[in-house]
Amino acid sequence: MPTSRAPGSESPAQSGVGERVVETSSEAETRSLGRSVGEGLHPGAVVALIGDLGAGKTIFAKGVAEGLGCSDEASSPTFALVHVYEGSVRVYHIDFYRLSGPDEVESLGFRDYLDGRGVLVVEWADRAPDSLPPDRLEVRFQRTGDESRRITVRPLRGR
Ligand SMILES: Nc1ncnc2c1ncn2[C@@H]1O[C@H](COP(=O)(O)OP(=O)(O)OP(=O)(O)O)[C@@H](O)[C@H]1O
Ligand SMILES: [Mg+2]
Repeated sequence: MPTSRAPGSESPAQSGVGERVVETSSEAETRSLGRSVGEGLHPGAVVALIGDLGAGKTIFAKGVAEGLGCSDEASSPTFALVHVYEGSVRVYHIDFYRLSGPDEVESLGFRDYLDGRGVLVVEWADRAPDSLPPDRLEVRFQRTGDESRRITVRPLRGR
């Protein structure tokens, strides 16, 4: 099981309200964390994944889809950068990595996925943060070793 500690137990000044920091030591643990996060999401939720190449964003996203009852991946007819999963809730899994920035994100019809009926999971969300709704779950991935990752889950609220 992933080990969890109280947020900010090492650096209280940096912890935010509702923030959770989890250390995982395998791909399976990261996937399982994604699954437990997914289980608590409702249609319209947006999950912004931020972290370097190979940090674990895709593994986590697959866990989120599993947590929402998705087993198979369906492909998207309209937007090649989107994977659509059908579960108890539809999941749109989008990767901003190859996009140059907000203009390209908008021009590719990204807003269609903010329909409030599915859960949206975005990799490389920091490429176009302002294209995302202000109310979202931000998940940051830090590589702390070959198989260890520090994952910070933080609810953001619009003002
Ligand atoms: N604790 C861990 N959590 C997640 N992945 C891990 C962990 N330890 C090792 N790995 C490995 O790290 C890789 C993570 O790959 P993944 O595709 O999820 O990264 P990513 O953040 O989506 O990268 P990219 O930015 O290229 O899309 C996998 O090869 C996985 O096996
Ligand atoms: Mg990825």
